[in-house]
Amino acid sequence: MDLGFQRHDAKSAKAITSELVDVYAKVYDVPPYIGDPFFSVESFRSRLEAAYDTEGFETVTARLDGRIVGYVHGATLPADKPWWVSLGNRRPTELVDLAGAGGIFWLRELMVLPELQNRGLGRQIHDTVIAGRTERVTVLTCIVGNEPAHGAYLRWGYTILGQIKHAPESPVYDAMYLPSC
Ligand SMILES: CC(C)(COP(=O)(O)OP(=O)(O)OC[C@H]1O[C@@H](n2cnc3c(N)ncnc32)[C@H](O)[C@@H]1OP(=O)(O)O)[C@@H](O)C(=O)NCCC(=O)NCCS
Repeated sequence: MDLGFQRHDAKSAKAITSELVDVYAKVYDVPPYIGDPFFSVESFRSRLEAAYDTEGFETVTARLDGRIVGYVHGATLPADKPWWVSLGNRRPTELVDLAGAGGIFWLRELMVLPELQNRGLGRQIHDTVIAGRTERVTVLTCIVGNEPAHGAYLRWGYTILGQIKHAPESPVYDAMYLPSC
């Protein structure tokens, strides 16, 4: 079995959009996401295409024998991102300043195909994307109670800042941060 990780900037990611969306469709074809418009494949495609325009966009894909089996994407956190701003003074001042200087990586949409989960791939994809970033801190948002991801992030060293929503119709997420080693 041939496993490899690839980094894609926005231009290169656009060319594999349909592969990225197909993986999402398989990963999120489970309760409680099925039938929820916020998690529909078309909603995801719109969010992904909007993300391409974020400064510093990048995706890391894991390919096994040529097919994408997992990925993550992210970008430099825009200091005025509404969910980030909504945390207010629950953010340490140093993080607010760092975001203002473009020094925080916003890690988004880590996913692995169901049949290949729990073999270390998610951790490898996570660590690979961060290892190639210049930002000193990573932030992410994870749905409260979304296991195994939520517990894994805490074991991997993340600290919860507070709860946010991405939209009125979205679930509640914990916003977390991880200083780079
Ligand atoms: C979160 C996700 C990407 C992890 O991928 P993965 O390939 O299973 O990740 P790993 O094998 O590296 O496991 C990560 C951790 O979760 C644990 N884990 C994974 N699957 C598990 C399971 N079925 N039961 C219990 N624990 C599990 C592992 O033990 C590991 O813990 P550790 O790092 O503390 O040892 C995957 O579960 C997924 O795609 N989930 C659906 C999408 C999602 O919720 N993404 C997160 C958005 S914030």
